Amino acid sequence: MNIQRLILRDFRNLHACDLELTEGVHILCGENGQGKTNLLESIYILSNLSSFRSAHLKDLILYGATYGRILGRIRSGGVQKELMVFIREGGKIVKVNGHAVGRGVDYFGEFAALLFSPDSLKWVQGGPEFRRRFMDTAISRIDRNYLLQLKEYKRVLYQRNRLLRLIHESKAPRETLKAWNEQLVQTGSRILEKRLDYLRDLAPVLREVFKAFFQKAAEIRIQYHSSWFRIPKLNGAMADLSVWTGRFRQGIEQKEDEEVRQRTGLIGPHLDDLDFLVDGRPLKPGSSRGEMRMFAISLTLSEAKLYRNKKGRFPVLLLDDVTSELDRKRQEILCKQIESLGQVFLTTTDDSFVGKMKSCARIFQVQKGEIILVT
Ligand SMILES: Nc1ncnc2c1ncn2[C@@H]1O[C@H](COP(=O)(O)OP(=O)(O)OP(=O)(O)O)[C@@H](O)[C@H]1O
Ligand SMILES: [Mg+2]
Repeated sequence: MNIQRLILRDFRNLHACDLELTEGVHILCGENGQGKTNLLESIYILSNLSSFRSAHLKDLILYGATYGRILGRIRSGGVQKELMVFIREGGKIVKVNGHAVGRGVDYFGEFAALLFSPDSLKWVQGGPEFRRRFMDTAISRIDRNYLLQLKEYKRVLYQRNRLLRLIHESKAPRETLKAWNEQLVQTGSRILEKRLDYLRDLAPVLREVFKAFFQKAAEIRIQYHSSWFRIPKLNGAMADLSVWTGRFRQGIEQKEDEEVRQRTGLIGPHLDDLDFLVDGRPLKPGSSRGEMRMFAISLTLSEAKLYRNKKGRFPVLLLDDVTSELDRKRQEILCKQIESLGQVFLTTTDDSFVGKMKSCARIFQVQKGEIILVT
């Protein structure tokens, strides 16, 4: 999968930009505040229809302009298509090959772009919600049904929480909870099953990437922590869906009184977490920032490789500010790793890194919102 042409109009500080792009690595270099991340953001929006930096559409439009536009000509699995995101303060218009797309969920999967940004460190350092988001986004990219199941789970959770409040205030009978319990159990255990399947496939890929970066073989394990029962080690045969459904049902029966008291659901995949274990120890405490950054980069590259294993093609990789805090040796390893990962866009302010990549990448200089091909 790759973008062959990217045309931007009044997107952030990129007033007018028309780029012919190829397979392989593209380096966007330049000083701070010139528009490098803005360019990655435009590609990210073309894939995800939302930004990783701002929730307000207005921020994405060039100051003083009334609209912004991102247009990408994509090639995927031998098929070419044109994707367009038109941004106004009041909303977005999304088109595929000139036809408007109504719901975001219908668009998902048209074009996959994975991002590493300095915020990706939160997968390692941040709260459980960041690790849940990592998993859920990665699985949704390869399985559209999972995205629909997540939406359904959120809907059921919301309705059930409303009901718990009403029961607490004696405004609804307790029996009404039963139907919602069962819906929560059914959707929740499917989500758990898919997460466990995904993580079991991810672990060996991560082990290989880790070995390359850290220059040592280590036993990498991903431990899933369920909010309602112990999950065995993620290798070998896993229990089937009926086991998770049974345990979830049992858990919810035990917790029901407390849930009514607290007026909220206390178990389910919306509260689960992960640990990344290196030689049996969680990565978090005691790791240096560089190590954590390398681990987060390893997670991104592993997700890209697993996507390829499942879908038969690489997603586009967006690596924002990926070189900082990496020593020279790790930067060299990174160069080697990304050379064979399809189409990659990487931003950096580091001239020596650019020098190293000259022979195997296309270099673009970004200056005051202008993007110029250097080599
Ligand atoms: N809506 C907008 N209209 C015009 N300019 C904008 C808009 N939003 C952000 N900018 C400008 O874009 C610039 C930031 O661009 P960007 O984040 O891409 O920088 P960068 O090249 O990645 O820098 P760094 O190396 O520091 O990460 C800032 O100068 C900011 O003022
Ligand atoms: Mg930047």
